[in-house]
Amino acid sequence: MVIADLVYLFVIAYSFPTTIGQGHTFRAAYYGLSNIVFEAVFWWWFVGSMLAFALVVAFGTVERATRVAAWAYRKARQSTKGRVAAASSSVADPVSPGRRHFLEQTAVLISATPFVAAGYGLLHSRLDVEVVRPRIPLARLPKAFDGFRIAQLSDIHISLFTTADYIHRCVSITNELKPDLIALTGDYIAWDTEQQGEVVRTLAGLRAPFGVFGCLGNHEEESGTEESITRLFAAKGIHILRQARAPIVLGGETLNLIGIDEPHGRTETEWRRDVHRKLRQIKELMMPETVNILLSHGDFPHMFDRVAELGIDLMLAGHTHGGQLSLDFVHRGLNLSHLIYDYNSGWYEKNGAQLYVNRGIGTTGFPIRLGARPEISVFELSRT
Ligand SMILES: [Fe+2]
Repeated sequence: MVIADLVYLFVIAYSFPTTIGQGHTFRAAYYGLSNIVFEAVFWWWFVGSMLAFALVVAFGTVERATRVAAWAYRKARQSTKGRVAAASSSVADPVSPGRRHFLEQTAVLISATPFVAAGYGLLHSRLDVEVVRPRIPLARLPKAFDGFRIAQLSDIHISLFTTADYIHRCVSITNELKPDLIALTGDYIAWDTEQQGEVVRTLAGLRAPFGVFGCLGNHEEESGTEESITRLFAAKGIHILRQARAPIVLGGETLNLIGIDEPHGRTETEWRRDVHRKLRQIKELMMPETVNILLSHGDFPHMFDRVAELGIDLMLAGHTHGGQLSLDFVHRGLNLSHLIYDYNSGWYEKNGAQLYVNRGIGTTGFPIRLGARPEISVFELSRT
């Protein structure tokens, strides 16, 4: 029965005309109200039933473990107390009507919980932006940059559910934080290449005295929009760093900002070759006498581990969306993205290098966030 249900869910999901249904086929989305409602209901049901399934498996496991423990306990008692205990343990324990009613109500409540949670994630949590203010200590930071503030926005994914109005709200929140510089870490579009003009127009409202800089994400790479969206950003004064650096000068001192594309390649071999090329380019772009900050959309593959060896001081990334479904508040790393990636959300440190993975403001796949709110981060750089 369970296998049949899973096959059914897979068939429905696979035939649905969206990201899963068409793989990574980019298309023009239909933005009519009926489509938005239909997609919202579908994803609410899809995520709700998946969560319910996970809950049933978890409860089933606990229930079976309890039964086995009770059986083992009875056996142990039988062996120590002999026939009397054995007789008493064989007496059936009929469930009273009151207890049955209670169990039924509990079962209904538990099975409804995932659907309530999915609804909350769709209607509220997905848009409930959190401003995070990490302090980043950098021992080599030039004195003039002590207290310098960089805001990061990532994974915009303009789409049916990440509208220009919502992005505009995020732009306003970022501007109100009054950062010195703004860093964008890729994935501006979702699946609709025709939306690149709109997302650029909206992000053009960002303001920072030292400028707005960015790198590209895998959605730009896979959609073939890297050149076009870079030109659109440039026309609005936003600098997309593609294997390039932008020295930021303050009080006669310099901080080096580097941006890198996602690795390219039609085959595994080509892709690996490009990873090595990108690492060589990063090394060439680094400035030895100052702090080097790398904008790289994703951690492909183990990019942070490798750039830490090169001596990058701070890497700003996105891509994971914090898993979108996360129990990080129970234990760090308990989220969907951790099935694939080591670094999913927040701050990490390795060999003196630091990484910050921003959860992004948009969504892909299902338009639901639970335990992984959209995030705008603003870093305060510090010498200590
Ligand atoms: Fe993304």
